[in-house]
Amino acid sequence: MKMNIAVLPGDGIGPEIVEQAMKAVKAVCAKKGHELTYEYAITGACAIDEVGEPYPQATHDLCMKSDAVLFGAIGDPKFDNNPKAKVRPEQGLLKMRKDLGLYANLRPVINFPSLLHKSPLRRDLVEGVEFMCVRELTGGIYFGEKGRKDGGDTAFDTCVYTRVEVERILKLAFEFATKTERKKLTVVDKANVVETSRLWREVAQEMAPNYPTVETEFMFVDNAAMQLIQRPGNFDVMVTENMFGDILTDEASVIGGSLGMLPSASVGVHTSVFEPIHGSYPQAAGKDIANPLATILSAAMMFEYAFDLKEEGQMIRDAVNASLDAGVVTEDIAEDGKAAKTSEVGDWVADFIAKA
Ligand code: IPM
Ligand code: MG
Repeated sequence: MKMNIAVLPGDGIGPEIVEQAMKAVKAVCAKKGHELTYEYAITGACAIDEVGEPYPQATHDLCMKSDAVLFGAIGDPKFDNNPKAKVRPEQGLLKMRKDLGLYANLRPVINFPSLLHKSPLRRDLVEGVEFMCVRELTGGIYFGEKGRKDGGDTAFDTCVYTRVEVERILKLAFEFATKTERKKLTVVDKANVVETSRLWREVAQEMAPNYPTVETEFMFVDNAAMQLIQRPGNFDVMVTENMFGDILTDEASVIGGSLGMLPSASVGVHTSVFEPIHGSYPQAAGKDIANPLATILSAAMMFEYAFDLKEEGQMIRDAVNASLDAGVVTEDIAEDGKAAKTSEVGDWVADFIAKA
C-alpha cells in the first residue's frame, strides 16, 4: 500500500519520541512492503519562534494532502508562565483539530500486565482493565466565546454544543460499542447542572434505541471520576464532551501504570492525527530519557485507523509488549537503575519488528 504521512514532531520531547515511532513505522513498512513517503512540518512553540504562528498554513496544507498525521507534542514553559502571551502553542493544536475537523479523540486505556505494579491502584482493581474513552474534540468550552470584561477583572468561557456536534460523536461512540465484546456505552455528563450536558443526554436517549445490542448507561462526571478509581474494570466505552474527556483521560492514563504509555487517534472530517496523550515534558527535552511507547503505540493506531492495516498495528503492539517484558524501557517505568534511553527503546522495538 502507498502511505503518505505528515510528521509533526512539535516541541519538548516531541522530536525524540516521534523519531522512535518513525523507526517502528519504517520497520513495519519494510517488512510488509508498504511504500512509505513522509514529510516533516513545524507546529507549536517552535513554529511560533520560526514563523509567528503555532499552526502555519503550510503545515495545514501538508496535513490535508497526507493520508495520516503523526504528531508528537506541543507546549513550552515560556508560554505556560506567561498568562498574557498573545499567541500560545496550544492554540496550534486546537486550530489543527478544528481545521482538520477532528471531532473525535479515541483514547484507549490499556492494561499492560508487566506494569501492574506501577499503577497507583491495587492490582485486583487494575488487572484486565481495557476500555476506550471517546472524547469530543472540537466543541464545548475549548472553542466557545471567551474573554474579559470589567477592565479585565471578569473572565468568561462559554460552553456551546449543537445537536449536530453531539449526534456525530455519539454515533461514533455507539457504533464503536456495537463492536466490543461487552457492548456497553457510558455517557458521561453533568446533566444535573449544565445545559449542554442536558442536550447530550437528550440526544443519547433518542439514539440509544437504534443500537439495541448496546447497553447504554449515564453517569455524572464527578461520579465517573470516582468510578474510574474504584471500579475501572466496569468501563467498556466511555463518551464525553471535550473538557471532561481531557480531565478523565489523564486520570485514566495512570491506571495502566504510566502516562507515558497512552496513545490516541483523532478522527473526523479530514486527515486523522495520531498522537500520545502526554504533553511536551520540557524538563526531559533533548535528554533521551522520555518514554517513546505512547507515540509508538499511536503509530500502531495509525496503521489500524488510517490504513485499515490491523496486522501491522498488531506487529507494533507485540513489539511494545516484548520490550516491556524484556525490561527495555525508559526511567519512568524501569526497575531500579536499569533504564534504557529513549533511542534505545526505539531501536529495540524497530529491531524486534524487523526480526519478527
Ligand atoms: C490533550 C492536551 C491538550 C488538551 C492541550 C495541550 C491543549 O491536554 O490533548 O489532552 O487540553 O486538549
Ligand atoms: Mg489533556
